[in-house]
Amino acid sequence: MNQTLLVNRKDFRDTKLVSTPNTDLADHHIRVDIGPFALTANNITYMVTGDMIGYWKFFAPKAYAIDAEGFGRMPVWGYGIVTGSKCADIAVGTRVYGFFPIANSIDLKPAKLSSLGFQDGAEHRAHLHPVYNSYTLVENDPSFDPKLDDLQPVLRPLFTTSFLIDDFFADNGFFGAEQIVLLSASSKTALGSAFCLKNREAAKIIGLTSKTNMAFTTNTGFYDQVENYTDIDNLDATKKTALIDMAGNGEVNAKLYDLFGDNLVYNCMVGKSHWQGAPPPKSEKGAPPAMFFAPDQAKKRIKEWGGAEFAKNLAASWLPFCDSAGHWLDITKQSGDATLLECYNGFLDGKANPSQGNLFTL
Ligand SMILES: NC(=O)c1ccc[n+]([C@@H]2O[C@H](COP(=O)([O-])OP(=O)(O)OC[C@H]3O[C@@H](n4cnc5c(N)ncnc54)[C@H](OP(=O)(O)O)[C@@H]3O)[C@@H](O)[C@H]2O)c1
Repeated sequence: MNQTLLVNRKDFRDTKLVSTPNTDLADHHIRVDIGPFALTANNITYMVTGDMIGYWKFFAPKAYAIDAEGFGRMPVWGYGIVTGSKCADIAVGTRVYGFFPIANSIDLKPAKLSSLGFQDGAEHRAHLHPVYNSYTLVENDPSFDPKLDDLQPVLRPLFTTSFLIDDFFADNGFFGAEQIVLLSASSKTALGSAFCLKNREAAKIIGLTSKTNMAFTTNTGFYDQVENYTDIDNLDATKKTALIDMAGNGEVNAKLYDLFGDNLVYNCMVGKSHWQGAPPPKSEKGAPPAMFFAPDQAKKRIKEWGGAEFAKNLAASWLPFCDSAGHWLDITKQSGDATLLECYNGFLDGKANPSQGNLFTL
């Protein structure tokens, strides 16, 4: 049997595990046992933006013959191991990395195979963004260092975004900002961005976080100043300021617009870790919020730099960031639905510990 986690698309607290019988593997397909995979606030945001960006479509229950009206499958990043193969080029035992549903296993149809990986050729995924349809053959890809095995699923999809945000800001002359304020500063995506931006020494890097995450965020050393959401008035409103917003909290945004006015030169909307927060306000002064979608910036840079140069530039920041993680991140590996759901509900309730990286196998 193949067990999978379903989430009510209108009420994320309503989850259920269902089991479906394993069918015969179809020709040209592989069966991949899923795990370990990571869980971070980013996965919750996939559901929040699931209808707008299409994240519900990747593993829609219906496409996998699971009868569950109104429910969807939250995507996660992680490893898998090939346990069955009717694809001549991929052997049983091959380890892959990519985008998965929370389930025991999934059948994929490898297409566009190269020495480094393949795309899932499932018909219902053909029109979806290729970044999320790509699977890496872990043993063949030199950027997958075995020493970083546990860190990769937790940090890699987030750090790639951090790297691209930093690159986007540098490419645009930091929008003339003298200081850059990162919201949800304790999130891994914000930490990665702060890490890259601080190294450039182009602007003062400021973190905004919750009271409970102040000490953690300060101790990473990635920010020149850290404030909590209730002390926004401590920020210097006379300076040209850009925001990088992982929180997506309209109330906090409104306070920042009031404080900075025309000195708010750019508002980069990256995430919605405060998933129940109000939408961004309509601002009369200052730059309006601008959506950042990492895969689009990656596409632009791969076109301009070429794939090899992109990988080289990414690796040049990724490896030092992974080194730093030894000081601020503990990874735990767990299995079974009870611990998984506890962690999942912790993210919904805002109780996640930012110093914790969570890996699971169902
Ligand atoms: N646009 C893109 O392409 C892209 C790519 C990657 C990530 N992102 C987004 O960046 C955001 C951060 O993702 P991540 O995986 O890096 O997060 P993470 O490391 O899991 O972040 C945990 C932090 O998020 C805040 N948080 C989490 N759940 C919360 C809740 N229910 N209520 C209030 N605060 C909560 C807390 O930070 P504070 O106390 O500091 O607020 C917490 O310490 C997500 O919204 C994600 O989707 C976007």
